[in-house]
Amino acid sequence: SALFSYDLLSRRTVNRLDAVVISVNYRLAPKYHFPNQFEDVYNALKWFLCHDVLDKYGVDPERIGISGDSAGGNLATAVTQQLIDDPDVKIKLKTQSLIYPALQTLDMDLPSYWENSHFPFLPRSLMVRFWSEYFTTDKSLTKAMLFNQHVPVESSHLLKFVNWSSLLPEKYKKGHFYNSPTYGSSELAKKYPGFLDVRAAPLLADDNKLRSLPLTHIITCQYDVLRDDGIMYVTRLQNAGVHVTHNHVEDGFHGALSDYALKIAYRIENQYMSWLSENL
Ligand SMILES: *[C@@H]1O[C@H](CO)[C@@H](O)[C@H](O)[C@H]1NC(C)=O
Repeated sequence: SALFSYDLLSRRTVNRLDAVVISVNYRLAPKYHFPNQFEDVYNALKWFLCHDVLDKYGVDPERIGISGDSAGGNLATAVTQQLIDDPDVKIKLKTQSLIYPALQTLDMDLPSYWENSHFPFLPRSLMVRFWSEYFTTDKSLTKAMLFNQHVPVESSHLLKFVNWSSLLPEKYKKGHFYNSPTYGSSELAKKYPGFLDVRAAPLLADDNKLRSLPLTHIITCQYDVLRDDGIMYVTRLQNAGVHVTHNHVEDGFHGALSDYALKIAYRIENQYMSWLSENL
């Protein structure tokens, strides 16, 4: 959620890493829908990645990283993928840092969704609402997503990219039984194709795309419906041969980085900044 709530972290990053930080104030749901958010962030990134602008800010074009948490992690992941094959942008990213990112819309029954279904800050019902409001105010999408019945049969080939049974390490699968999502109406997917779009659900990118991604740092938290999104992306990137560092915070919860009243915020911030100071 954009600029102002991240002012403190941006300033702390500037001071600790002696970096130039650009924070994008993108248009928010539910007032605006996908792909506005994606386009705002992508346009800002393209504006920044040109020699005139970088010179002006004294930025080394070989040392540019992108980062984001939660919805911002979704956008950071999506624009980083998009940039790979963009012929208009010659300057590429060196790193991506993704903190408990939201990466997929297809399966709302991942083990992490059920284990943290009633976790106060981000219960499953709220996350499903956020996802559906990213695409539309039509409640029929929310309802279909709550029942995990929104993917049409024509899109069944995408399910392998979000298959937790094959993409999660054993310890996160314990006690869960894999059911693939129940197929839903094609009408919903025709009206709101965004939820099947790789720019909204970057876990749907194929291996060819993933192979070219920059150095990656992913932080996931145990008490988080989005835990398995991040962990599945770790697996997919590793399988594609991308250099990825994964920090899983066993006592972490969604949003922990933003709560500076708690020690855990500093622990996560330190992981985030230490990795950047070593890799950027
Ligand atoms: C998911 O993975 C499991 C185990 O690897 C496999 O048996 C199943 O067919 C897969 N389902 C889909 C929809 O990809």
